[in-house]
Amino acid sequence: MSTAISPTAYNYKVVRQFAIMTVVWGILGMGLGVFIASQLVWPELNLGLEWTTFGRLRPLHTNLVIFAFGGCALFATSYYVVQRTCQTRLISDTLASFTFWGWQAVIVGALITLPLGYTTTKEYAELEWPLAILLAIVWVVYGIVFFGTITKRKTKHIYVGNWFYGAFIIVTAMLHIVNHASLPVTFFKSYSAYAGATDAMIQWWYGHNAVGFFLTTGFLGMMYYFVPKQAERPIYSYRLSIVHFWALITLYIWAGPHHLHYTALPDWAQSLGMAMSIILLAPSWGGMINGMMTLSGAWHKLRTDPILRFLVVSLAFYGMSTFEGPMMAIKTVNSLSHYTDWTIGHVHAGALGWVAMISIGALYHMIPRLYGQKAMFSTSLINTHFWLATIGTVLYIASMWVNGITQGLMWRAINDDGTLTYSFVEALQASHPGFIVRAIGGAFFASGMLFMAYNVFRTVRASNPVEAEAATKIAVVGAH
Ligand code: HEM
Ligand code: HEM
Repeated sequence: MSTAISPTAYNYKVVRQFAIMTVVWGILGMGLGVFIASQLVWPELNLGLEWTTFGRLRPLHTNLVIFAFGGCALFATSYYVVQRTCQTRLISDTLASFTFWGWQAVIVGALITLPLGYTTTKEYAELEWPLAILLAIVWVVYGIVFFGTITKRKTKHIYVGNWFYGAFIIVTAMLHIVNHASLPVTFFKSYSAYAGATDAMIQWWYGHNAVGFFLTTGFLGMMYYFVPKQAERPIYSYRLSIVHFWALITLYIWAGPHHLHYTALPDWAQSLGMAMSIILLAPSWGGMINGMMTLSGAWHKLRTDPILRFLVVSLAFYGMSTFEGPMMAIKTVNSLSHYTDWTIGHVHAGALGWVAMISIGALYHMIPRLYGQKAMFSTSLINTHFWLATIGTVLYIASMWVNGITQGLMWRAINDDGTLTYSFVEALQASHPGFIVRAIGGAFFASGMLFMAYNVFRTVRASNPVEAEAATKIAVVGAH
């Protein structure tokens, strides 16, 4: 078989733009995470200003880490993967560029409006209607670019990673549009089209599937490309990946009610959500096992390759959080865990351990290739980053488990005469050491991102325009 270089080139410009912004937003979003974690330790850090209160900065943190950091990582990798696995260029440079600038505009809009207090009050869907409409337009264009590229692929089949990215794009559009249906009353204020328990159900159908499709399915697309590439092994089981795909997307969509246990939602809906969540363990672990087993015969590479370590440890945290989630969905367990820091620990086991770690691993794999370099500037800096991220995640989630269970038990403790054993403030005082450990863990994780920024900067600077251009050429194996 011969390898020929096609005169057409991949569109790496938009991939590079999104990749660099992933690092930038990662630093800002996680830095803000450390700041709000510190506010819970030292409330003086609210600074006595309405714009810098915990209540306003917390949604800014979630928007920056999920949509800015996670979103840019998903855009960058999906554009990279779809081009390489379809052996073709994105269908339109203009539309791809529009998604980049449009997405950054939405994020800058969030940066301005959330501290000013403009919010729909729906968690993870806080952006008011003008920004929500812009987001919907960008997303539809993203779909056109992604699926359009798939339709003009040079390969016969569609690689499984693209199935996951595709489902993530379609379902995110559906969730966003349905949950955002609202009546604008002014330029900055709208009211939900739904009322009462229906509104709550739609919100958590959205919220849970934002986790399921934005924070899980998209990143599984990433997993299916970057784990085999970095391990230099084919995916363990292609058949399992197809079963995994269909089982995951059919089940996830029903699990939302576990966010509304013991509320005004009809009891049957809560129980259905609980049952679906428990069943969800199976496809989640199917995916995790498929990724892990891809390393069969390549485990020794973990000793020398910190990029592979990022990818494998992310799968371990994925397995852990998708075991914990179904447990927390059981109503009796949820009666203890809900409202406590246990939920926050679970969130960050997924967010730091899975979402951030797999993105970081994928970026370290991709960046040298985008700039025509053999490797990142420094492997030992990647290693330092790996340990900071791993230790940071463990400190974060362990402290939140201790806090969560302590809070749950203290809140429900009752004296013989039926009065509460502990006041709320006593439970808060008991949580203080855990808050300190969480802030330290978060600082570990965020400082790792600074090492990454330096490493990326040096890698990009080492690349000259000729090398960078040559990297974009499509190599067609056996075609000529
Ligand atoms: C340096 C890293 C980070 C730190 C220190 C941090 C810190 C925090 C803090 C203090 C909260 C508020 C907890 C509370 O209300 O009690 C929070 C919430 C949250 N963070 Fe982070 N975070 C970090 C990274 C991330 C990342 C990378 C993601 C997602 C990819 C993420 C997603 C979230 C979400 C979804 C919530 C809301 C959880 C809920 O409402 O249950 N965080 N974070
Ligand atoms: C099989 C998989 C999973 C199941 C069944 C599950 C289940 C749950 C449950 C029961 C809660 C607590 C709801 C409450 O008491 O309010 C929860 C919260 C949460 N989980 Fe998961 N989880 C899973 C995987 C994940 C993963 C992989 C991530 C992150 C990437 C994640 C992110 C979140 C977030 C952000 C929340 C907090 C929502 C909020 O209240 O703001 N989950 N999950």
